[in-house]
Amino acid sequence: MSYRSKWTVIAIVVGASLLLAGASAAFQGVPDTPAPRVPRAEFMQRKLDHTQGLVADLSSGDLKGVSQHADKLGLLCLDEQWNVLGSPEYLERSATLRRTIAELSRAAREEKLDRAQLAFLDLVGQCFSCHNYVRDDRQKR
Ligand code: HEC
Repeated sequence: MSYRSKWTVIAIVVGASLLLAGASAAFQGVPDTPAPRVPRAEFMQRKLDHTQGLVADLSSGDLKGVSQHADKLGLLCLDEQWNVLGSPEYLERSATLRRTIAELSRAAREEKLDRAQLAFLDLVGQCFSCHNYVRDDRQKR
C-alpha cells in the first residue's frame, strides 16, 4: 500500500468511528428508546417521565401528547428490563398495566378526554400497588 493510500484508509476509519460515536451519542439522547440497554434506575425514570407527561397533557387536554406518552410507556412495558421479578403475580400486574395503557391510548385517539383521564387514574393506582407488592415481596425474602 502506498504511503498516501494508507493515510486515506486511516482517515476513513477514524472518520467513520467518529461518525458512529456521534450517532450513538445522539441515539442515547432520545429519552424513550429502550435500546441500547440503560441502567435500571434510568429505565424506571423513563416510566415516571411519561407518567408526568400524561398528567400534563391530560390536564391541558392535549390528546395527541397523551397517546404519544401512552404508546411510549407501553413500549417500556414490553422491554426485558421491565421484568424485574418474573413471578406470576408480577407478570399478571404487568399485563394489566399494558391493558390500561392500551385503553388510555385508544381513548386519546378517539378524543375521549374523560375516558382517558379515568384510565390514567387507574394507571397511577397500578404504579403504587405494584411498587407496594415489590417492596413486600422483598421484605419476605
Ligand atoms: C408490574 C409492576 C410495576 C408497575 C405496574 C410499575 N412499576 Fe415502577 N418499578 C417496578 C420495579 C420492580 C421497580 C424497581 C425497584 C427496584 O429495583 O428497587 C420499579 C421502579 C420504579 C421507579 C424507580 C424508583 C425506585 O424506587 O427505584 C420509578 C420512578 C417507577 N418505578 C415508576 C413507575 C410508574 C410511574 C409506574 C406507573 C406508570 C410504575 N412504575 C409502574 C415495578 C413496577
